Amino acid sequence: MKYITTPIYYINAKPHLGHAYTTIAADVLARYWRGRGQKVFFLTGTDEHGLKVERAAAKEGLAPKVFADKMAAQFLEAWKKLDINCDFFIRTTDKAHEKYVTEFASKLYRQGDIYKDIYRGLYCVGCEAYIQDDDLVDGKCLLHNQVPQKIKEDVYFFRLSKYQEHLKKIIETDIFRIEPKERKNEVLGFINQEGGLKDVAISRSSSKVKWGIPLPWDKEHVFYVWFDALLNYLSALKIAQISCWPPDIQLMAKEILRFHALLWPAILSAGEESLPKKLFVHGYFTIEGKKMSKTLGNVVDPLEIAKKYGNGPLRYFLLREFPFGEDGDYAEKNLIRRYNSELADDLGNLLQRTIVMINRFKIKVTARQREFRHNGIIEEKIENLDFQGALVEINRAVKGANAYIDKEKPWKLVDSARKSKEIGLETEEKKRFEEIFAHLISILHQVAYYLEPFMPREVLEIQRQLKSLKPEPIFPKIK
Ligand code: MSP
Repeated sequence: MKYITTPIYYINAKPHLGHAYTTIAADVLARYWRGRGQKVFFLTGTDEHGLKVERAAAKEGLAPKVFADKMAAQFLEAWKKLDINCDFFIRTTDKAHEKYVTEFASKLYRQGDIYKDIYRGLYCVGCEAYIQDDDLVDGKCLLHNQVPQKIKEDVYFFRLSKYQEHLKKIIETDIFRIEPKERKNEVLGFINQEGGLKDVAISRSSSKVKWGIPLPWDKEHVFYVWFDALLNYLSALKIAQISCWPPDIQLMAKEILRFHALLWPAILSAGEESLPKKLFVHGYFTIEGKKMSKTLGNVVDPLEIAKKYGNGPLRYFLLREFPFGEDGDYAEKNLIRRYNSELADDLGNLLQRTIVMINRFKIKVTARQREFRHNGIIEEKIENLDFQGALVEINRAVKGANAYIDKEKPWKLVDSARKSKEIGLETEEKKRFEEIFAHLISILHQVAYYLEPFMPREVLEIQRQLKSLKPEPIFPKIK
């Protein structure tokens, strides 16, 4: 069983392109493994507690849970519309999740890994985190452009410092693998910095944050949303009644790496749970060079893009445009350009002309001609999460097939083949003709197979056309 996770997303706003990016990547991986006969448990969901959600709900005049129900439904709906096929959708307001968090924390409290102390510092509501002076520019949080609150309060801490050496060892030796390498080094650098790891506040006074899970041993406090949220990866298995711990791969972007690379394995070690096999940290993308933000008003709704260009093209573009582990940029004009060249001119054209010629020249496509060959390189790239590399390979095959048609010029063989038919002879030309189309059909089947995880809906259509031999443009050119 392959256990794949995405972060669970905050529901203070509706799903945007950044959320879709990670979830689509996870879906591609899940579909790939399912296609290889593996059982898969692909988990995603929503992170529904905390001040951010409490405030968003209040703004709409809704009770937090009513607001959460509405927003979680939007996420579910969005993923469904984008052909994202998760095996389970966890919500942190699920009673069973709350119970799981409570029990897990109680164990840590009993064994002394959680203790009460005074916290003095700064708190950014946008980050849902205490932040350091270093994180400020002009006195404001760099990420949220907000002045943080000054805070002095009693909170419960998790003894992260106790796990410092353990974390260093498991990360260095790849027992707990962090990819790409630069991210692993970043985490190690953080552990090795002067002063080392500090204990982490994992509760908030319920006078400040009401919308959270109360600590079972002190009702004046609720769990810090991150402590609650990280445990979703475990609680979901309980709720779904499936046993596939630990995750094979956990996907996320770099801004939440520290939570996943330090607090998370430390909590798991404290709870005597085994560790995820791999964290894969992808990059952050900007929108036409700018950070995506509500203030700038440039938040991209993935459903709108999908409605305009199709699900497959959106999924394809996001993973094709820049390497998965690196930062990148999203621009609609680039999507259109790539759509027109790689989907309309290359793939659409190959399918169309092949089927049209098969019909026109009445070529028989036999089972033997549909033989399938595994590529090897594409498998390797997808398994290493080099989605861009895999798509480049697939496009190379398509381009190669188009060039092959241009070189062979099968239509030139037609005249002589026709003549031979008139005199009732099997000719060299006819044989050659069939060979060419057997090759093309086999490439198209192969391309469809490898594209299925990326563009499931469009691939079904390609396969339908290959079977019915009725050509219809699937990627009409965008003017
Ligand atoms: N709720 C926490 C995660 C808890 S996991 C136990 C959270 N949620 S979030 O809604 O802010 O989603 C963060 C994730 O969304 C990122 O890690 C990334 O997967 C995705 N992205 C959000 N914006 C993105 C970009 N601009 N670019 C790429 N991915 C982005 O943090």
